[in-house]
Amino acid sequence: MQRFIGNILCMTKYSSWNHYFHHNNWSAPDLCPPGDATLSAQEREMIAMSLQQFQLGEGSDGLGLLRRANEFSGRNDVRSLPEAMQRFVREEQRHSAVLGLFLDRESIPRLHHHWADHLFRRIRNLAGFELMLTVLVTAEFIAIPYYSAIHDATKSECLRRIAKRILNDEAQHLEFQADNLALCAARRGDLGRFGTIAFHWVVLSLAAALVYSMHTRLFKAAGFSPLRFWSMAFDAHKAVFHKLTQGSRPESEPVGAYLR
Ligand SMILES: [Fe+2]
Ligand SMILES: [Fe+2]
Repeated sequence: MQRFIGNILCMTKYSSWNHYFHHNNWSAPDLCPPGDATLSAQEREMIAMSLQQFQLGEGSDGLGLLRRANEFSGRNDVRSLPEAMQRFVREEQRHSAVLGLFLDRESIPRLHHHWADHLFRRIRNLAGFELMLTVLVTAEFIAIPYYSAIHDATKSECLRRIAKRILNDEAQHLEFQADNLALCAARRGDLGRFGTIAFHWVVLSLAAALVYSMHTRLFKAAGFSPLRFWSMAFDAHKAVFHKLTQGSRPESEPVGAYLR
């Protein structure tokens, strides 16, 4: 009976996510005001390489993730999960497409390979479903300070709007991944769940140090010290922390609380 009720709650949750992803439509041309100035030479120097890397990173085909989501769904009878995961992957691909259009508009070439992207994909593909989600959610934690820094570092209204729109999506992705991770951790006791959280903190600390060092010029231009960057990324972890420990985020901390 308990399992039956659990399955109904899961179905409802993932149907809500499918509904959300289905209706969350936006595109780059809507965000770029006519006559918006292109990046200054100084901005290009600071942002171009960084945006190229994130544009590449956002564009994964997600095939490994979708295969694992299908397997997990089959084993645990969570029927709406694969569809929601597919819609999530499409949303990440839209981030890549929109950033790509911005790069084209600025005549900045798109990257096809980068060692950091290659490393990230290799680690992800070695993992099972839960570990893969951990790697993915770490990217979501990092995305919050990253797109906030992009927003603050540029005067381009087009790029500022794109960054803000992506931030809104990433805030929802945090909640989505928190639901997925909570589902994976549901079979473990309290000790196991706190072990998962401790593991997230280790992975996030390493990823945050790597990303800050690779994009230091951007973060400095946006006025983000390492401590500010780190604290924003860890603040983003709250969505996962609360769902793993209490089942939900407190009402006083709504989704997108990181968006200023
Ligand atoms: Fe994204
Ligand atoms: Fe995301």
